Amino acid sequence: MASSDQSNGYEALAEKFMSSRNSRIGAATVREWSATLPRGSSVLDLGCGHGVPLSQTLIDEGFAVYGVDASAKMVAAFHERFPFAHAECSSVEDSAFFNCTFDGVIAWGLIFLLPAEVQTVVIRKVARALHPGGKFLFTAPQDVVTWLDALTGRESVSLGIRAYRQILHDEGLMPAGEQVDEGDNHYYFVSKPDERL
Ligand SMILES: C[S@@+](CC[C@H](N)C(=O)[O-])C[C@H]1O[C@@H](n2cnc3c(N)ncnc32)[C@H](O)[C@@H]1O
Repeated sequence: MASSDQSNGYEALAEKFMSSRNSRIGAATVREWSATLPRGSSVLDLGCGHGVPLSQTLIDEGFAVYGVDASAKMVAAFHERFPFAHAECSSVEDSAFFNCTFDGVIAWGLIFLLPAEVQTVVIRKVARALHPGGKFLFTAPQDVVTWLDALTGRESVSLGIRAYRQILHDEGLMPAGEQVDEGDNHYYFVSKPDERL
C-alpha cells in the first residue's frame, strides 16, 4: 500500500471489512451510551467505516450523525446508505469536522490504529470539539500492548489505561466508566465537565 494511505490499510481491504463486520457487535453498548445524550443531538463517528452497525444505531435513535473515515470506499458506502448524514473522507487527525462542536463523539476500533502521538492529538481534538457536558466513547485494550491488526496485518498499539487516563486528564476530560462488549472490545466512557454547573 502506498504511504499516502491514511486509512492504515483499510482502504485496500474495504470490501472484505464491510462484508465481515459483525453487525451485532457494539450496537447495544453504543445504544445504551447514546441514551445519556440529549435526544436528537449531534454525534461525531471517528473512523466510521461504512456505518454499520454504529452510525446506523445512532441514526435510528434520532441523532444527527457526522461520519469521518480515511477510506474512500467506506465513505462511499456510508454516504449511499445514509445520504442525509454528514460524511467526510479524511484522516481523523485532519478532519474538518473538528471545526464543529458535538454532544457526543465515538471512536470504535480506531484509536489503537493510530501512532501513539497521533492518538494524543486526536483525543485533544475531541476534548475541544465536545460541548460542555459532552460524552466520548472509544475502544482500546486496558493493557499496554501491541498486536497485528487481524485484517490488515499492520501494527496496532494500545497505550494502556494509565496512559489513556493521563491524556484524558491533561485534556480536561473525565473517565466515566468502562465496559467490555460481546466481542471482547474494551470501552472507555468519558465526560467533558460542564464548568457552568
Ligand atoms: C476497525 S474499523 C472500524 C470501523 C467502524 N468504526 C465500525 O465500528 O465498524 C477502523 C476504521 O478506521 C478507519 N481509519 C483508520 N485509520 C484512520 C485515520 N487515520 N483516519 C480516519 N479513519 C481511519 C478505517 O478506514 C476503518 O474504516
